[in-house]
Amino acid sequence: MQIEFIKTNDLKQKPETVSGFGKIFTDYMYVREYADGSWHDGKIVPFDALELLPCSSVLHYGQAVFEGLKAYKNNNGEVRLFRARDNFKRMATSCDRLCIPPIDSDEAYNALYELINIERDWIPTERGTSLYVRPFVFACDESLGVHAAKNYKFIIILSPSGAYYSHGFAPVSLKVEREYVRASKGGTGAYKVVGNYAASIKAGDAANKLGYDQVLWLDAIERKYVEEVGSMNIFFVLDGKVVTPELNGSILPGITRDSVIKLLKSKGYDVQERRVAIDEVLDGAANGKLTEIFGTGTAAVISPVDMLGDGDKKYVIGERGKAGKISAMLFDTLTDIQTGAAKDGFGWVTEVK
Ligand code: COI
Repeated sequence: MQIEFIKTNDLKQKPETVSGFGKIFTDYMYVREYADGSWHDGKIVPFDALELLPCSSVLHYGQAVFEGLKAYKNNNGEVRLFRARDNFKRMATSCDRLCIPPIDSDEAYNALYELINIERDWIPTERGTSLYVRPFVFACDESLGVHAAKNYKFIIILSPSGAYYSHGFAPVSLKVEREYVRASKGGTGAYKVVGNYAASIKAGDAANKLGYDQVLWLDAIERKYVEEVGSMNIFFVLDGKVVTPELNGSILPGITRDSVIKLLKSKGYDVQERRVAIDEVLDGAANGKLTEIFGTGTAAVISPVDMLGDGDKKYVIGERGKAGKISAMLFDTLTDIQTGAAKDGFGWVTEVK
């Protein structure tokens, strides 16, 4: 696979410090096109606007998927990617769900590796910051028929980022969502499909207006079991056990979720992947058996939850404004592995040299 590199002399000023999520972008992006029945060689080109006709199919029917992963740099200048191949494997499942022609995950990984190497000076080193990587694929047929397109673009953009939530790594609050649902089995909830996120905005917006950061989604059929948060998977420390909803066909199989389960098991924690009834969670919050809640995600990393709201009721989890013991340990352990400060016993990181 050839990757042409089209250079520019018009380089941007790099920020001295990085905070916030997904607001600034590096000088280059990777672009690969699908046309005439195959994926063509990709190019690394200056980050710039795309040319799309108003009849481009993605604008009408949303045939598009994305991924989120991170590159880290430590103070020695070493650059590492975390589980990037796993993200490209998941991207392949998302593409398949939307009838998008598969992209070889090794080719996608190699393209990212080259792009990261070119852009390594953009990677921040401060703890809690990283270079957020956003690969995405979308349909660009110039016609209005509803069917699998014949033309696509696969693009990777890079954004030096800090914490996903606007208040940094401080705990977040969640509203139990009783009105809207995110996904049901047979739908697209288990894939990283753009429409999932569009469909979640109204509930998120209503929760924000009530002072919550995000919503906690329940299953679409019984409205009884916890699913996920949308920007992250969810874990509960209940009666000393770490419990998370099992992957049931409508929950995103998070890569951070998987890493956390493996890390906790390796440290001897009792981790249970099973159906988690919202009543069990709320009862635990009321009787003190629920001692911690945290979300996991690439952007969210490990995000402690210190408040759950359900209608008029509000439940404080642990100590308001403070990360729980397990959340704090996971954030540190994961960050140390990702930056190379701790040994990676799982084969998750690859150094970009
Ligand atoms: C990620 O964690 O990378 C995601 O894609 C979630 C997104 C809502 C920021």
